[in-house]
Amino acid sequence: MSTGSKQRRKEHERDPYVKQARRSDYRSRATFKLQELNEKDKLLKPGQTVVDLGAAPGSWSQYAAQRVGPSGKVIAVDMLPMEPIRNVQFIQGDFTNDAVFRRCVDALAGARADLVISDLSPNLTGIRVTDQARSMQLAERVLEFACLTLAANGNLLIKVFEGADMEEYRRKLVQRFQRVMARKPKASRGASREFYVLARGYKV
Ligand SMILES: C[S@@+](CC[C@H](N)C(=O)[O-])C[C@H]1O[C@@H](n2cnc3c(N)ncnc32)[C@H](O)[C@@H]1O
Repeated sequence: MSTGSKQRRKEHERDPYVKQARRSDYRSRATFKLQELNEKDKLLKPGQTVVDLGAAPGSWSQYAAQRVGPSGKVIAVDMLPMEPIRNVQFIQGDFTNDAVFRRCVDALAGARADLVISDLSPNLTGIRVTDQARSMQLAERVLEFACLTLAANGNLLIKVFEGADMEEYRRKLVQRFQRVMARKPKASRGASREFYVLARGYKV
């Protein structure tokens, strides 16, 4: 193991959110990001239809399914396999692939989503420009999906990475949503360039 990966492993083991996730039924520390955002912004409500993009191993879907309850619906998508979760319909595949994208739209069976959440992360190379460009390709696809599937006044929560293209992306969101806000939950590691954008009130 390289010195860098040993260091990352050590940091992971010391991480209070990792410890908290191990003590809970949640599958990863990522759940605490969504929990914090939901507590602040009141995104998830009983009966809602939610699409979770980049869902594996599944902690956001677990949390969302609990919040929407049995009268709601969660559709989860990831290229990696995911253990089943009650009240979550899972689609495995690459979201940037047209056929998979279509399956995700079709899974709504003509209904509209109240909320699209995306924690999609490309495989990070550590090369800032490459990582930002890949993340932006995913983000563009997520926006296309949100515009096709969200109900009027629906919300989009999406992970993005700081970079030159972000301003242009934010402008596109502002055209389609009533309010666009940046969010950096505590569980999002401080040094990481990731942050979340919450776009509220989809304008159909
Ligand atoms: C940070 S993880 C998501 C963690 C998840 N929110 C949770 O709470 O368990 C990012 C996920 O994005 C998925 N991903 C990245 N690119 C993808 C793509 N093109 N299509 C589908 N899934 C993708 C990865 O496989 C990975 O599981």
